Amino acid sequence: MDGVKFNHLLHGGDYNPEQWFDYPEILKDDIRMMKKARINTVSLGIFAWCKLEPVEGVYDFDWLAEIIDRLYENGISVNLATPSGARPHWMADRYPEILRVNMDGSRNHFGMRHNHCYTSPVYRRKVREMNQALAARFDSHPGVILWHVSNEYGGECYCPLCQQAFRGWLKEKYGSVEELNRRWYTAFWSHTYDTFDQVEPPMPTGEMAIHGLYLDWKRFVSDQVGDFLRSEVEALREVGAKKPVTTNFMYNFQEYNYHKIAKFVDVVSWDNYPTWHRKQERLTAMDTGIQHDIMRSMKKAPFLLMESCPSPTNWQPVNKLRRPGMVEAASLQAVAHGSDSVLYFQIRKGRGGFEKFHGAVIDHYGKEDDRTYQECCQVGEDLIRLSECNHTWVKADAAVIFDWENWWAIDESKGPRNQGMYYKETVEKSYYAFRKQGLNVDVLDMEQSIEGYRIVAAPLVYMFRAGFEAQVRKFVEEGGIFILTYWSGVVDENDLCFLGGTPGGLMDVMGLRSTEIDGLYDGESNYLCPVQGSVDAGMLSRNYRCEHLCQLVEVSTAVPLMVYGDEFYQGTPALTVNQYGKGKAYYICADAEQSFYDDLYRNICKEAGLKAPIPCFVPEGVEITTRESEDTQYIFIQNYNRTDVKLPIRVNDYEVIFQSEGVKTGGAITLRKFNTVVLKNRK
Ligand code: GAL
Ligand code: ZN
Repeated sequence: MDGVKFNHLLHGGDYNPEQWFDYPEILKDDIRMMKKARINTVSLGIFAWCKLEPVEGVYDFDWLAEIIDRLYENGISVNLATPSGARPHWMADRYPEILRVNMDGSRNHFGMRHNHCYTSPVYRRKVREMNQALAARFDSHPGVILWHVSNEYGGECYCPLCQQAFRGWLKEKYGSVEELNRRWYTAFWSHTYDTFDQVEPPMPTGEMAIHGLYLDWKRFVSDQVGDFLRSEVEALREVGAKKPVTTNFMYNFQEYNYHKIAKFVDVVSWDNYPTWHRKQERLTAMDTGIQHDIMRSMKKAPFLLMESCPSPTNWQPVNKLRRPGMVEAASLQAVAHGSDSVLYFQIRKGRGGFEKFHGAVIDHYGKEDDRTYQECCQVGEDLIRLSECNHTWVKADAAVIFDWENWWAIDESKGPRNQGMYYKETVEKSYYAFRKQGLNVDVLDMEQSIEGYRIVAAPLVYMFRAGFEAQVRKFVEEGGIFILTYWSGVVDENDLCFLGGTPGGLMDVMGLRSTEIDGLYDGESNYLCPVQGSVDAGMLSRNYRCEHLCQLVEVSTAVPLMVYGDEFYQGTPALTVNQYGKGKAYYICADAEQSFYDDLYRNICKEAGLKAPIPCFVPEGVEITTRESEDTQYIFIQNYNRTDVKLPIRVNDYEVIFQSEGVKTGGAITLRKFNTVVLKNRK
């Protein structure tokens, strides 16, 4: 298996000693407390440009060198950041072009962070010089284990340089303006371009009617940010840096196609800030779980949890305390899903500024008897007990497609419902239905291969791109089980509608043609009811509610398993199955309730021989995830219910390598709320 392997599971987080220069005793105290909490890694220098280059061209790295040395002597390694996420005042004053420009053409003032143009040659040069100086000085330090490039790249820039680069990107892609006009369908409303120079980014005060433009702008922005990252990495490598590279991604981040950015890093990492205790924890855990799985699936290798909050954040609408045990559960959930680290934001809580009330391992109070500190110490101990899981693999037989470009396209499509198509929620329904059975799930985009999975679910793939149809055809032909939903295969990669019937290119594989789609007002619903007599696995025996969207279909070879219960299309197919080659293709016609997905997927998985790694039913709210090495399987069991759960598993059949405080393992396994158990099994 590929990926970046560290000596052990990493425990630690963002550390900002540059904020504490006036408090020399703090560093000593921090190191003592870090060691006690079994912290072995910190991320340094993320927002430290001011201290690294106080005056243009004058680097001051000695303070950093001293801290890296001191940490290293104490067994603490460093993810060393490049500081491009925020820059000094002098730079913005001298080179205003580095400041970001808004959609309305106004240029930002100096301030905040991530406030840079990612095209500006000046900014790229400044970053390059800084990165090379850092790499030349620190890459060979044995305490530096990873380059943490920038921080949470985000946002868009509309400056003349970015717009020029966009036009260059388009020329490269389409060759001629005639071709661009064809692919963007610009005869519509007489929006034909005469030259590339006329193209502006999409904006509400200008062009919002050309969907091809909208998608290409989003693609360009991802590419340009990826290129900025590439240039940061190139700068490091050019001076001989050998340490692996990452950049930290964000939760549910629609702005950039992370797949395009991930290709420039050695290991994917991300920052996880769930609003625990806002809704039921089992729902938050599912939502967090899919994010972990998206991150892991990008490179199909273990990832890093780069940031998480050991107590409340300070930027969410309400910042609720983590209930006892939650930090442990959330941390171990990351490990269960394939993370080789548990890192927090931040090690020491800042005294002033925007984040002075953001949770941290070490509070303003600064002593060990702080509740959060103790919970972090517990996680530190846990990770030592789980050390043999380091860099083991998460193998999945089921995959769900979640595609950024499709997400953009659906939200801009001006289709059957402009007040909510619920792409992410729809993907989650399939994901949850697998996860509730204790199955690992990979979450892939349309460019990744689906070969080798037993079951692939592709919810709401409105756009077919990157040869997805061909992949699906082969997959089903060779025996795979494929699940497609309503409003799929409607347009191509330029958002041009398929002619001659949909799902475009897959009508024979699905054995049907989707004819019309009904948008339902909020609060309206229909229902799916069983067709008697079928023996297919997809056959369900009760009615299920559906809302938002009802696709009408005309079957050719597909067999209806359920039909609509209401409306003028009552009695027409609402769930179908088609035998194609050695495989089967299911089509879900409507936005059905979760229990429909749960029941359908349970039957389909059973027929395909996919089952949970524990020999009992997986109760709601219990997360089962497995990691494995060549000969060993590690079964992580977590209880996200607020009540105890008893699992009739014979503990003697396994080695229990980890159990949270409170777990009972006599005969059966009883987990209290937020408890974790890890069982080891020889394969
Ligand atoms: C992250 C960011 C950190 C810190 C944290 C607070 O998004 O990378 O620097 O601001 O949020 O939750
Ligand atoms: Zn710009």
